[in-house]
Amino acid sequence: MFFLILLVFVLFNSHGLVSSLNNEGFALMSFKQSIYQDPEGSLSNWNSSDETPCSWNGVTCKEQKVVSVSIPKKKLYGFLPSSLGSLSNLRHVNLRNNRFFGSLPAELFQAQGLQSLVLYGNALSGTLPNEFGKLKYLQSLDLSQNFFNGSIPTSIVQCKRLRTFDLSQNNFTGSLPDGFGTGLVSLEKLDLSFNKFNGSIPSDIGNLSSLQGTVDLSHNLFTGSIPASLGNLPEKVYIDLTYNNLSGPIPQNGALMNRGPTAFIGNPGLCGPPLKNPCSSSTPSASSPSSIPFLPSNYPPQDLNNNGGKTRKEED
Ligand SMILES: *[C@@H]1O[C@H](CO)[C@@H](O)[C@H](O)[C@H]1NC(C)=O
Ligand SMILES: *[C@@H]1O[C@H](CO)[C@@H](O)[C@H](O)[C@H]1NC(C)=O
Ligand SMILES: *[C@@H]1O[C@H](CO)[C@@H](O)[C@H](O)[C@H]1NC(C)=O
Ligand SMILES: *[C@@H]1O[C@H](CO)[C@@H](O)[C@H](O)[C@H]1NC(C)=O
Ligand SMILES: *[C@@H]1O[C@H](CO)[C@@H](O)[C@H](O)[C@H]1NC(C)=O
Ligand SMILES: *[C@@H]1O[C@H](CO)[C@@H](O)[C@H](O)[C@H]1NC(C)=O
Repeated sequence: MFFLILLVFVLFNSHGLVSSLNNEGFALMSFKQSIYQDPEGSLSNWNSSDETPCSWNGVTCKEQKVVSVSIPKKKLYGFLPSSLGSLSNLRHVNLRNNRFFGSLPAELFQAQGLQSLVLYGNALSGTLPNEFGKLKYLQSLDLSQNFFNGSIPTSIVQCKRLRTFDLSQNNFTGSLPDGFGTGLVSLEKLDLSFNKFNGSIPSDIGNLSSLQGTVDLSHNLFTGSIPASLGNLPEKVYIDLTYNNLSGPIPQNGALMNRGPTAFIGNPGLCGPPLKNPCSSSTPSASSPSSIPFLPSNYPPQDLNNNGGKTRKEED
């Protein structure tokens, strides 16, 4: 009798007839099923015979709970399933440079401990849900080089810990939400370039004293004058305002001072130093310095499909 039971046990186990995979493993198996192509076999060890997903490629657990799913640059072709949101301890999602399409599943925002969501260089589309504001721990949001559209949800200003915010090279429209600069107090990196944002540049962006590197608002449809408060940004910050529809004099203070004309070109209505068309002249001439031919002929990059164009990001 005992032998029989043992035999049955051994048979069941060795043939995987008894699946003891935990719930989080099942959630990730459904992620695997939403991937139609995995040409490099990156998910080949995602095996439902395992008890937990913790040994699977790209999966990191802490105390047997999945905290990170990181599978960058693997040519994965598929969509993002709602089941990812059921990973209650999920903190990091990095699926950059794959071929994911479709929209962000609303359920993803149930993973409220999410600290980083890095999805750049895919073919994702649709709008950003207002649920973003629920992600109180979000520090890094990089959705660049996709096909997202619509406007930035107003709730984003509740993401007080957000340090990296990169929406560049998408199809976003609308104006920046009220309180953008007042709310995102931790912001260190801001790149909204190559979209269709319009309206004026909020003056409270000048209060974001942790910003570093380039604050890139270029290649959008921003209108109105440049708020003098932008000059309050740290002196080392480079503010790229090129190719918008800004107008009026360029404030000459702080971080806006001592810039060459290259930070401002492509805005026919801007005047005064460092541009050569004086503000008094209401009709800039055809040879106006606002169209200085400083740029290489392949600039601006037009190909939003991840080839060429802007330097590809390769950091991990
Ligand atoms: C999953 O693991 C079981 C047991 O280790 C093995 O027999 C089976 O071939 C594996 N399945 C896949 C798809 O790799
Ligand atoms: C952006 O939207 C326009 C239509 O509004 C469309 O023609 C274009 O292909 C879209 N571009 C991207 C990169 O999604
Ligand atoms: C976003 O793009 C989709 C598909 O191109 C379109 O149907 C939808 O109206 C767009 N939404 C917004 C807010 O532009
Ligand atoms: C911004 O563009 C949208 C259409 O995408 C338009 O409805 C809205 O009025 C514009 N806002 C401003 C301030 O120009
Ligand atoms: C933003 O900075 C200005 C001065 O630079 C200050 O008057 C204002 O109170 C600040 N706003 C917030 C919300 O901190
Ligand atoms: C640029 O701004 C001016 C007003 O300053 C407006 O009349 C014009 O329509 C805008 N152009 C675009 C392409 O938004």
